[in-house]
Amino acid sequence: MANELKAKDKQGIDLSNLPSHVAIIMDGNGRWAKKRGFPRVYGHKKGVENVREIVETCADLGVKVLTLYAFSTENWIRPKSEIAGLMSLLGKYLVSEEKTLNDNNIRLRTIGDTGALPKPQRELLEKTMRSTEKNTGMVLNLALNYGSRQEIIRAFGILVEKGVQRASEQDISSSLYTAGLPDPDLLIRTSGEQRLSNFLLWQMAYGELYITDVLWPDFKPQELYKAIKDFQSRHRRFGGIKAVQT
Ligand code: IPE
Ligand code: IPE
Ligand code: MG
Repeated sequence: MANELKAKDKQGIDLSNLPSHVAIIMDGNGRWAKKRGFPRVYGHKKGVENVREIVETCADLGVKVLTLYAFSTENWIRPKSEIAGLMSLLGKYLVSEEKTLNDNNIRLRTIGDTGALPKPQRELLEKTMRSTEKNTGMVLNLALNYGSRQEIIRAFGILVEKGVQRASEQDISSSLYTAGLPDPDLLIRTSGEQRLSNFLLWQMAYGELYITDVLWPDFKPQELYKAIKDFQSRHRRFGGIKAVQT
């Protein structure tokens, strides 16, 4: 009975039980390009095109926060030309998407040490965040120069500076870049790698993992629906013995 009353929509997704916060490790751009004989940066370009589609799909479904791992603190060890390509794509994305973000009522924010990004990208981020700050729909949270360990060390620094002697979970959560955001309910990693790669270590204490072999440029809305349906079939117990609906 109750099931019949549930708002079902897209592809059998139960809209009353959506993950509030979806985080994605967008991996596999390089392999996608290599398979086709293209340079890695072309894979990143296709990856960015896919970002556009997945952002709109999440906003349309009613996901509240979408966090995308775009550049890690470890990614600086890649060849300079690849880093330059990634930064250039970030700049282009911000310029081309400002209007779409506003049209979709999406607010942009970032996590990570964005102060170390090149100046033009920093300025574009500031501009886009300012222009979308009043939007009340989905939060698009870009992880840029993000590393979870760096984030935790930074949080310790904040707490020491505040003179906090015994930090509570709440103290730590509110000193992380993700302060004010709910923890992710669902973390998707594309391209089959079964690791967190220094992403949201604290925040993922009870988040559900979904790993797919699909490479990021091929992770189309249908794949996202599949991931969400899989999430909805799980029993989240949070250490107890009964499933808890969040
Ligand atoms: C993910 O794709 C994008 C970034 C890390 C910036 P990769 O570039 O890691 O692609 P693979 O893992 O080499 O295929
Ligand atoms: C994680 O992917 C970082 C991003 C997707 C931005 P990587 O490709 O850098 O991770 P590893 O090196 O395979 O762990
Ligand atoms: Mg990778």
